[in-house]
Amino acid sequence: MGIIETDKEYVAGTYKRFNVALVKGEGAKAWDENGREYIDLGSGIAVNIFGYGDHEWKQAVEKQLDAIPHSSNLYYTEPCGKLAKMLCERTGLKKVFFGNSGAEANECAVKVARKYAHDKYGDESHSTVITLINSFHGRTLAMLSATGQEHFHQHFGPFTPGFVYAKANDVEGLRQISRENACCAIMLEMVQGEGGVMPLENDFVKAAEEICRGNDMLLIVDEVQTGNGRTGKLYSYMNFGIKPDIVTTAKGLGGGLPIGACMIGEKAERTLGFGDHGSTFGGNPTVCAGAVSILERLTDDVLSEVEKKGLYIRKKLEGAKGLKSVSGMGLMLGLDTEGSAGEIANACLENGVLVLTAKTKIRLLPPLTISYGELDRAIGVLREQIELRAK
Ligand SMILES: Cc1ncc(COP(=O)(O)O)c(C=O)c1O
Repeated sequence: MGIIETDKEYVAGTYKRFNVALVKGEGAKAWDENGREYIDLGSGIAVNIFGYGDHEWKQAVEKQLDAIPHSSNLYYTEPCGKLAKMLCERTGLKKVFFGNSGAEANECAVKVARKYAHDKYGDESHSTVITLINSFHGRTLAMLSATGQEHFHQHFGPFTPGFVYAKANDVEGLRQISRENACCAIMLEMVQGEGGVMPLENDFVKAAEEICRGNDMLLIVDEVQTGNGRTGKLYSYMNFGIKPDIVTTAKGLGGGLPIGACMIGEKAERTLGFGDHGSTFGGNPTVCAGAVSILERLTDDVLSEVEKKGLYIRKKLEGAKGLKSVSGMGLMLGLDTEGSAGEIANACLENGVLVLTAKTKIRLLPPLTISYGELDRAIGVLREQIELRAK
């Protein structure tokens, strides 16, 4: 059996995979088992932010593998503390809990918010978390509840209670929901990624911050997809001039190894104590050593290039027949097309370009280091496929 047949036979059928098996990658390029080359505008869904085969990340990981790959959280290791320090210094947040995925980082954030309120009120009276309609926060049972999309609330009940959903960009609606429920937090994605690459409006984000401040609730920003340079700032909330109480991230921080980080600000920095949370692999030194090398290289120069490349893509797509609009920030873009996004993605693959979809849109999350030449080629193919399907 070949790669695809073996997978189809033995791997649980939860993913609708493209009909291609990737065997090699270098920078923004990947090759399939037949030696065909692709330009990847998806980065393993915002993970490989410095592309495939990132040499410095690989070196950092290998060095740690040789030293001590895993030790458990019963002992101190250097990379874990170093990474936490770097994250705190660059965000102004105070403490970091490490897990292994975005969903886990968000679980931790909700635990912190609920315990913060519990410590204050002595009971569970203020346990509700407001999230947004059309949000996505992960696949654990609690994060399915947190996710404000009805189709994620099926089949697996009973779901974790304590989540209510507000409409994005409806300030009055958000105020009303926060008045009607005893809440401990508001959790937001600055750009709803899985929900179709929908950025929030600045006034709404500011209002959410103000509601949290006025009601002693925590403002949680989910930066799992938007984080680590993707929008042209280290974290996307930095585009909005707010100070969240908790920031979660994952994906790109790990550079290809699983990581989740829940960064906790001053207000709740002492909320979690011994035994309140844990993870066998969380803060694993090998993963953290790789993440240190990623974070070190997310410099101002790299971040300003992200913004420039995002604008470059928009320019290249300008006036394309069959393209209704482009949404997003930096190198996180959503393309609303007249033709079906699924069909366009398959046609791009046939023509050597990998793109993603989100809801009814084409979603682009290229490596931050993709070259302008690669963008010319890949966006050229994408534009052609969009235009071929114009109505
Ligand atoms: C905004 C957001 N939050 C959480 C998650 C879940 O992350 P993970 O799949 O690492 O659990 C995702 C994944 O796409 C995401 O985009």
